[in-house]
Amino acid sequence: MKTETRLKKCVEPLLLWYAGNRRVLPWREDPVPYHVWLSEIMLQQTRVEAAKGYYERFLASLPDIPSLAAVPEDELLKLWEGLGYYNRARNLKKAAGVILAQYGGEMPASYEELLALPGIGEYTAGAIASIAFKLPCAAVDGNVLRVCARLLADDTDISDPALKKTRKAELENIMPADRPASFNQALMDLGAMICVPNGAPRCGDCPLSSHCLAKRLKCQDSLPVKKAQKARKIQDRTVFVIRYRDRVLLHKRPPKGLLAGLYELPSAEGHLARPEALSHVRILGFVPLHIEELPESRHVFSHLEWRMKAYLVRADELCSPDAPGEDYLLKTPQAVSGECSIPSAFSAYAPYIKADVTKQ
Ligand code: ADE
Repeated sequence: MKTETRLKKCVEPLLLWYAGNRRVLPWREDPVPYHVWLSEIMLQQTRVEAAKGYYERFLASLPDIPSLAAVPEDELLKLWEGLGYYNRARNLKKAAGVILAQYGGEMPASYEELLALPGIGEYTAGAIASIAFKLPCAAVDGNVLRVCARLLADDTDISDPALKKTRKAELENIMPADRPASFNQALMDLGAMICVPNGAPRCGDCPLSSHCLAKRLKCQDSLPVKKAQKARKIQDRTVFVIRYRDRVLLHKRPPKGLLAGLYELPSAEGHLARPEALSHVRILGFVPLHIEELPESRHVFSHLEWRMKAYLVRADELCSPDAPGEDYLLKTPQAVSGECSIPSAFSAYAPYIKADVTKQ
């Protein structure tokens, strides 16, 4: 059977299933373009359940595109704190500026214009165009590729960009012209709830199981095929929580690269033993009075893993009047939690930023 014929047979049962099983999500019930855009950006790298709280908080602070365009960067990053991939937030603000300048503050209602905005790729443009503007555009991500690979028993590598193009064209040929939003979101929900990525798909509950070639051929567990990713680089680091009087030392990361422009706990390359760690504290400009080893932790980025050793250090004196150096700053724990966005890579050490160590 031709691919599109097989996919077309799935449309009706998929939409019926969606009507009865769709997830109730805040951005779905009233698909205001700004809200749909924000949700799609958050959902690029964040799970639906984790994104919900951030979404509500973000909109409470920045209820419209003009407020997003005008928000100071530190405030924006604070709203994004813990979500990761902070360029998503920076691009939202950049795009809001473009929308104000070029479109009078209204999101453009075409796939091509959406695609031209910072931070909006083909998937996100398709999702916004279909959900907010009811345009017949497909939104093809890894979830949709997985569902299609199984429905079609197709063992093409789903990381092949040509496949995404092909699927997008096929789905646009069979999607119901009057229900693009439901169609795309039905595929998303099916991928999230039934045709799941990790572990066996729940074929017993699937509205498409009678149309699914992988199910018929009993190969659903070995699909999709995805080329192995390059192994992540592992970096050993030593993190310092340096408490100076009632303050904690933070470092502002450089404006480009990993975690660009965010505040972090100071750190050094490698796993430093206690004497080396004490020297490093002096290099940072502080006379250490007390040092204590903290639990190790690790953080996995998409392409890199940090394995962290850490020390809590109390200092009451500076080694030099210039301390702390450029890009370092001393903040009270209250100011840290109110103003600074600390990446979740450091979350194992967050309690020590707040802990009262002044009386030790
Ligand atoms: N993942 C990405 N976009 C989504 C949406 N609109 N609904 C559910 N899951 C999604």
